Amino acid sequence: TTQVKKICCLGAGYVGGPTCAVIAYKCHDIDVTIVDLNESRIAAWNSDHLPIYEPGLDKIVFERRGKNLFFTTQVEQSVLEADLIFVSVNTPTKKSGLGAGFAADLAYVESATRQIADVAKSSKIVVEKSTVPCRTAESMRTILEANSNENIRFDILSNPEFLAEGTAINDLLNPDRVLIGGLQTPEGMKAQQALVEVYAHWVPTDRIITTNLWSSELSKLAANALLAQRISSINALSAICEATGADIDEVAYACGRDTRIGPKFLKASVGFGGSCFQKDILNLVYLSEQLNLPEVAAYWKQVVDLNEYQKKRFVSHVIKTLFNTITNKKIAIFGFAFKKDTGDTRESAAITLCKDFIQENAKVRIYDPKVTTEQIFLDLSEPGVVDNTKQLKNRVTIAKSAYEASEDADAIVIATEWDEFKELDYQKIYDQMHKPAFIFDGRLILDAEKLRNIGFRVHTIGRAEA
Ligand code: NAD
Ligand code: UDX
Repeated sequence: TTQVKKICCLGAGYVGGPTCAVIAYKCHDIDVTIVDLNESRIAAWNSDHLPIYEPGLDKIVFERRGKNLFFTTQVEQSVLEADLIFVSVNTPTKKSGLGAGFAADLAYVESATRQIADVAKSSKIVVEKSTVPCRTAESMRTILEANSNENIRFDILSNPEFLAEGTAINDLLNPDRVLIGGLQTPEGMKAQQALVEVYAHWVPTDRIITTNLWSSELSKLAANALLAQRISSINALSAICEATGADIDEVAYACGRDTRIGPKFLKASVGFGGSCFQKDILNLVYLSEQLNLPEVAAYWKQVVDLNEYQKKRFVSHVIKTLFNTITNKKIAIFGFAFKKDTGDTRESAAITLCKDFIQENAKVRIYDPKVTTEQIFLDLSEPGVVDNTKQLKNRVTIAKSAYEASEDADAIVIATEWDEFKELDYQKIYDQMHKPAFIFDGRLILDAEKLRNIGFRVHTIGRAEA
């Protein structure tokens, strides 16, 4: 089989960076170069302050950088030298044109593919790492094959990434499975085997699954749809709990003890966020519609609709509880990232909550341990609205700690489940708040009884009012 000696990765983002850093860490016999068009991102990868926060990432990058792990903007050189190229560029939801709001924008995947075709002077294995609609590999293959000749061949593989942010390094070091799809031809299977051998440096071979290309592509969308569906299911049940006196954590535990259901991913919340779930489901919805399967499309669409409903439901509950008006009230938002242990805010539920509170003329004071002030203002501003920043700065302030955020506040909203929010001195916080002091726990992380004893009015997702 072909032995991979040099890897190039196009896209130094949340996926390309950690994934290829771990490959370099586990395969000292392979040179790994991660390329991006974004110069400041590459500069950050080459500095002491990596562009993304991920527990355990620094150690791995600092250990291998300059040895067999390189970050550069020099696309051509890196593609020329590589035997295997990961395409790990962004595939956001299209904002305009055909399929706007649903379909994946494949412009970056296509331009990366064309770059490879233009530059390559020897045979390459091209690996689709980005999450893409089923059969994208076909288009990539057509573009690459139109540019191959008797001296150069391109083999294309699908190797979707299943890491979750906040636990990326552990997920990469100990994956449940690695999925590699390829054409079931002798050459396709040979390419597949070459990538299997890269992962086999550290992943037990019974965890490396090989399938055909289309199964691999669809499995990525399917896995995310199934995971998000579990959250929407538990969130739908949380509404029933609030109305009946059942407790969602108890229900989740009782159901999760059934080994067929399993205990994980059943935590009710203010709604799922992140760059993947919504985007990938909408992508699946679009695919279903294109395949003339409207019932299938509607089925998956409901997972996203329920998630929107959960966020709106939470906001109206806050307003109703605060005596039907939050005008000029101070609301402390604990957490802005879409989940704990990441600085990523893409599609974070906190964005929707804050925007809605601002619409109601509340004063919002946000604290997140990892998200930057610039990022928060970027997420909360509506593009195209003049004066928006000034208006925003009247309504939104950023605090350096949870204590600072809750000073003089009327209510606290837990939007992200950061561990540090469990350890705060809530007596101290209570003493500095307006009374009655409210806490809305959108993540079910706080001990409601203890808080009530201090004097707080506590409202928790999925629990009836005490
Ligand atoms: P990202 O936006 O963080 O990174 C993508 C990078 O690709 C950007 O830095 C961009 O500048 C770069 N890029 C675009 N075109 C390029 C080109 N032609 N050459 C070189 N660089 C180029 O995105 P991400 O979160 O890393 O996601 C990448 C893909 O992985 C997406 O398809 C996403 O759906 C998928 N995915 C993401 C996650 C996750 O947790 N973020 C998990 C699994 C899969
Ligand atoms: C997800 C998938 O888990 C991962 O396999 C895929 O590669 C990328 O998309 P990610 O979005 O990084 O990963 O994080 P994840 O842990 O899945 O959380 C997504 C959202 O769901 C977060 O907002 C999280 O808070 C929320 N969530 C998760 C819940 O509300 N309840 C749960 O029980 C689990």
